Amino acid sequence: MSDATVMSDSAGVLDAIATTRSIRRYLAEPVPDDVLRDICFAASRAPSGSNRQNFRMIVLTAGPEAEAAKQLVATGAKKLWAAKRRSDGYESGSGIDDKSPKARMARSMDAYIENLPTVPALIFPCLIRHRAPTPTEGASVYPAMQNLLLAARARGYGGVVTMWHLAAEKQLTELLEIPEGVFVAATVTLGKPAGAHGPVRRQPLAHFIYDGKWGDSPQWATDPPGTRYTSAGPTKD
Ligand SMILES: Cc1cc2nc3c(=O)[nH]c(=O)nc-3n(C[C@H](O)[C@H](O)[C@H](O)COP(=O)(O)O)c2cc1C
Repeated sequence: MSDATVMSDSAGVLDAIATTRSIRRYLAEPVPDDVLRDICFAASRAPSGSNRQNFRMIVLTAGPEAEAAKQLVATGAKKLWAAKRRSDGYESGSGIDDKSPKARMARSMDAYIENLPTVPALIFPCLIRHRAPTPTEGASVYPAMQNLLLAARARGYGGVVTMWHLAAEKQLTELLEIPEGVFVAATVTLGKPAGAHGPVRRQPLAHFIYDGKWGDSPQWATDPPGTRYTSAGPTKD
């Protein structure tokens, strides 16, 4: 952000990128309006196709709509997570070993979903469609969502991108009076982290970067010292 008088930034851009992890545990305190303003301002500065600026953020904190939306998302999440627990092997293999990363992940997800009705802030990034759905349309709303998460990190807040609204889309659309032709792109929950941010864990840089042709990683694609890694995602073991 160029205007330091508008916002204070406690994390540099590169540091924020490297430490904006999914935060699923929040302190029981509201997100102040000035923080919401700053992170939504960051969202509003995102690029969109033709600079159409056809993304919107529905921000829900307190009040009847917010409470009802949180409840709907929580109910939807419970349903989706129960199915994922089974299909992704959280209840078999290493998932039944209490100390395995998988079991830890399942416990943290259980707790997250249990607390969804009281998350400090619930945000729906939306896209106002101007044509039939296309595979590239998300590129005009997800940069805004990521800006929002990075700005939240910079202000000492954290959130997580979810797709929990998918199980309650119709009810949410009615409740929030979302017009036809608007794509609800995600559900973001947000608050003051109950734990630490810590680094994101990803594959080494060379895994992602090719030079010239598919599969050839350039020499320069090396990680900064101290980079931590993880495997690529959920395993079925
Ligand atoms: C498209 C997308 C969908 C996601 N859906 C969910 C979700 O439904 N529930 C959830 O708890 N996390 C969800 N996440 C968060 C990812 O699980 C998380 O970003 C990933 O495991 C990496 O962890 P990190 O963000 O802490 O580095 C989603 C992330 C993305 C980008």
